[in-house]
Amino acid sequence: MSDPQPTPTSLDYSPEHLTQRFQTLQAEFDLGLREASTPEELEDLRLKWEGRKQGRLTLLSSLWLKEAPAEKKKEIGQRFNALKDHIVSELQRAAGSRGQNVLDAEAIDITQPGTRRRLGAEHPLIRTWNEIVKIFQAMGYSVGVGPEVETDYYNFESLNFPPGHPARDTQDTLVITGQERKPLRDRLLMRTHTSPVQIRTMEQQPPPVRIVIPGKVHRNDAADATHSPIFHQVEGLCVDTNITFSDLKGTLDHFMKALFGSSVKTRFFPSFFPFTEPSADVQISCPFCGGKGCRKCKYSGWIELLGCGMVDPAVFGFVQQKQPAYDPKKISGFAFGMGIDRVAMMSYGISDISLMYSGDLRFLEQFA
Ligand code: DAH
Repeated sequence: MSDPQPTPTSLDYSPEHLTQRFQTLQAEFDLGLREASTPEELEDLRLKWEGRKQGRLTLLSSLWLKEAPAEKKKEIGQRFNALKDHIVSELQRAAGSRGQNVLDAEAIDITQPGTRRRLGAEHPLIRTWNEIVKIFQAMGYSVGVGPEVETDYYNFESLNFPPGHPARDTQDTLVITGQERKPLRDRLLMRTHTSPVQIRTMEQQPPPVRIVIPGKVHRNDAADATHSPIFHQVEGLCVDTNITFSDLKGTLDHFMKALFGSSVKTRFFPSFFPFTEPSADVQISCPFCGGKGCRKCKYSGWIELLGCGMVDPAVFGFVQQKQPAYDPKKISGFAFGMGIDRVAMMSYGISDISLMYSGDLRFLEQFA
């Protein structure tokens, strides 16, 4: 087999020169392929070209492709891909046909290890989503869904965000174009939270209700390590006679212990949401340091995880237009909402939310 030429680190980028370089490389590979006569030699050849760390394709990609001036990248990329396709398909063909010969020549060795098929794994976000849902299912909650393209009425108005209310500013909204001629309540937007499904659920069925609603939500937020314009929430809603704030506290305390371990404590702070009164933010004692203070909890010992509260009677008022049984004098309820991405990032120590949407196998394989 001929020795590879050292991979050059600088290049003349003229088309003629590139054609010549890539032809030389292909010729070199073809020669190697003709000379490889045993499965071992074929494997050596494969490693030499396709090896992950030191393979020539990897070196070519990092030395030529990445170093190339921006305006040349496309052309070099195309040539590189053509070479790579050639090498990959030729090696596959050779392995197939020679493998056949080997099989013909020798009996199958059944002690050989089989072909390993790589198992896929649940995405950390979906895993967290399922864990959360399961805990509520075990408490008798059902699971609901709702549309991601929502009307202004369900996303805001029926949740007691009247038109022009400043609380709307807390959820920077992506709206669908061409809606101006419709009355505001019918205009379409990308839902900014899963809360509209509370209203849709109650409109569909009289009380009692115990439901969790996981789903995707959208906001016009600039992406950074902890923000993404698309993220996920789980909404919870419980409505019945005599539901009190202690039911809310007990339910969420149980939930946090089930998710993070029985030593985790919860604490509730006054907050504001238009659709709950009173409203609270819930913090848990840091499951990593036990509350002593560490980097994960920014040395405070506590981590804020969700918003919640008692369903505002005004919300029941909107629902009553379709389901009169939601009479705030007879029934009461609590609701809560949390970000699934945040919980997943915390549970798995993921520092950048964009990793969850990158599809990068180096990230995903860590969860396999
Ligand atoms: N929808 C709120 C948000 O996206 C979260 C939330 C807070 C949901 C309190 C609730 C709740 O159901 O009771 O910011």
